[in-house]
Amino acid sequence: MSVKRGKAFEVEITDVAFGGKGFTKINDLAVFVDKSIPGDVVKVLITKKKKQFAEARVLEIIKPSEYRKNAPCSYSGYCGGCKWQFLDYEKQLDYKTKQVKDTTEHIGKVKDVKVHPTISTGQIYNYRNKMEFSCSDERWLMPEELGQEGIKKGFGIGLHVPGTFSKVLDIKKCYIQPEDGNEILETVRQYIIDSGVPAYGLKSHEGFWRFLMLRYSAAYDKWMVNIITKENKPEVLKPLTDILVEKFPNISSVINNITARKAGVSIGESEEILYGDSFIKDKLGNYEFEVSANSFFQTNTKGAELLYKCVEDYAELTGNEVVLDLYSGTGTIPIWLSASAKEVLGIEIIESAVKDAGKNCEKNGVDNCKFILGDIKDVLPSMESKPDVMIIDPPRVGMHKNVVKQVLKMAPEKIVYVSCNPSTLARDIDLMKDDYDVIEMQPVDMFPHTYHIEVVAKLRKKR
Ligand SMILES: C[S@@+](CC[C@H](N)C(=O)[O-])C[C@H]1O[C@@H](n2cnc3c(N)ncnc32)[C@H](O)[C@@H]1O
Repeated sequence: MSVKRGKAFEVEITDVAFGGKGFTKINDLAVFVDKSIPGDVVKVLITKKKKQFAEARVLEIIKPSEYRKNAPCSYSGYCGGCKWQFLDYEKQLDYKTKQVKDTTEHIGKVKDVKVHPTISTGQIYNYRNKMEFSCSDERWLMPEELGQEGIKKGFGIGLHVPGTFSKVLDIKKCYIQPEDGNEILETVRQYIIDSGVPAYGLKSHEGFWRFLMLRYSAAYDKWMVNIITKENKPEVLKPLTDILVEKFPNISSVINNITARKAGVSIGESEEILYGDSFIKDKLGNYEFEVSANSFFQTNTKGAELLYKCVEDYAELTGNEVVLDLYSGTGTIPIWLSASAKEVLGIEIIESAVKDAGKNCEKNGVDNCKFILGDIKDVLPSMESKPDVMIIDPPRVGMHKNVVKQVLKMAPEKIVYVSCNPSTLARDIDLMKDDYDVIEMQPVDMFPHTYHIEVVAKLRKKR
């Protein structure tokens, strides 16, 4: 039977594809099956058919894979937060290692790279130090709620259904954030309902409440609550702040970011400090960091320590090197490396992050790191000296192609590339492979129960 949209097939899932979907072949055509894992025998319905591949969804699990587990979270399978809770954790690690290998070979076009097994912190729940919950005026109902009489359909606060911008689940408990975060979320939810002030409609762009961002510092057991609204209404937020601070003594700051921009971003055009500090303090190794509401900080603190340890190993510094850190955020990698380098220079585009980085150096008594504010593609061409080692830790999109050209022109002896997206890492490796050998790669599991992968690659200039 030929593969067509609307047709059903019985198949065995044989692999995992990038993006966490199950993979199989029907009549030699690649088929990607949502919510399935290798070893599942499933009846699937073809939902999309293209020349090179098809997409399908599971109609029935005929025989579950031996790697299927009971997910503790009741939103598992519906929530975009973590899509792999039903997959055995050891298998998650194996698939991540394999995906790094596969993408480096297929997209990076580099064969036989040494990819070490993915390492984990061992803490696979309650690990996220930052969560961002969206508000909606029209929450997405769970299957058991559909058709229930008297079910309230309006306001919801939580995470998105995968791949959607407007479908928000009303999440009561999230397993990947620390437990107190769920109580703070519940307190904010109740206050919003009782306030009678409408939530921001993701389609209408009307309404007040937009996001709730929570940051947690495990080192100091403190919380930052950042409420993102469309307008500045202190009369609405002051009573909420009072309730939060009284109920949760470990909240060290309450912040209000205000933005009327239609884009669903939680960074405000202005920021009000409603209580406490404008930052949260956390620790990585022996170093202390102050992180503002809108600055980047790795979301898994223990994972970040493993990651930076690997960056340090791969950089092989002796104390005499000049290091250039592209995409330096709040200065965490430069500070981590400061004791073993002569000088570290960081470049970062977010102003608050550069300010945090400067303050963080002072706090930690570090005097050999400097930071430049700006877009890397504009800053790099004007740099005169050549670094010995370059650290590159870009956002998911990877490097701009002009930045890659510039890196090749600067030609550092060694590059340590930290990536949260093996596909863009592989694309950039492909652009650099004539000049650089990929020596080894180490995936670090910063995001248990999700298909997201963090990986460090060590590149050495060809002789
Ligand atoms: C993945 S984070 C890495 C931050 C840091 N290395 C760390 O480990 O915390 C990427 C950083 O790149 C910054 N960034 C994104 N695009 C940039 C650009 N074009 N120029 C400079 N910095 C940029 C972001 O603001 C963010 O802080």
